[in-house]
Amino acid sequence: KQDDDQLIIDAGQKQFGATTCSSCGMVYSADNPEDHFQHTQFHQRFLDSIKFVGWKKERVVAEFWDGKIILVMPDDPKYAIKKADDVRLVADSELGFQQLTLSRPEQAKTYLFINTERMVVGCLVAESIRQAYRVLEQPDRHKDMTKDDFMERHRAWCCSTVPEPALCGISRIWVFSLARRKGIATRMLDTVRSSFMYGSHLTKDEISFSDPTPDGKLFATKYSNT
Ligand code: ACO
Ligand code: ZN
Repeated sequence: KQDDDQLIIDAGQKQFGATTCSSCGMVYSADNPEDHFQHTQFHQRFLDSIKFVGWKKERVVAEFWDGKIILVMPDDPKYAIKKADDVRLVADSELGFQQLTLSRPEQAKTYLFINTERMVVGCLVAESIRQAYRVLEQPDRHKDMTKDDFMERHRAWCCSTVPEPALCGISRIWVFSLARRKGIATRMLDTVRSSFMYGSHLTKDEISFSDPTPDGKLFATKYSNT
């Protein structure tokens, strides 16, 4: 019967195709023992890193129907710094950053987006800077290069050589894979602009992104033009 055939095909796809874990977002193929093992290794560690139990003193800088943004400053208690570091390491490993510590940790402000399920689903590290190099408009794509190839190869030279004044540098921005395209990065940046410098609201021009990834560039371009 047709129904039975359909059942077998579905089962086969479930087992042999790539699966996305609905809690940690990892994409893996369940039939591959090594993949399966890697997922088990990653899953709990990841969920522990982004779990947010709540603190007695939280610096809440924005609130939304689906979460809130808290700011962690360099002189905050150890548990706060530890959580900021844990989440930043998760982000860094996804970004492929090798550097394990911040260049100037005494300067960095970390913004964490906490959702209603008490998970840190967004992390942004902002630092004071004096000048930045504007990212230039992407020239036309070469026909036989894929988008990713092109982006990778041209990352180094698509910045202007003339420094322009800037006040705030975004050295990391990361949103949990299962929480993307919901405006979390946008809301974190809007919050940075209103809270980074006491008593003044930064314009979009006064903020710059350091060495953006392809995702980061698509987002930054959209953000700057709206
Ligand atoms: N492709 C195309 N457009 C995008 C993308 C994308 N991957 N991401 C964002 N945009 C644009 C869209 O226009 C989007 O609006 P829409 O959803 O209505 O179309 C708009 O930017 C706003 O996006 P948000 O929802 O606010 O962004 P999100 O919360 O999904 O976070 C981020 C974007 C941080 C880049 C996320 O994709 C991410 O964490 N990626 C992996 C880590 C990374 O690459 N971070 C940037 C590193 S660069 C740096 O840290 C300086
Ligand atoms: Zn998982």
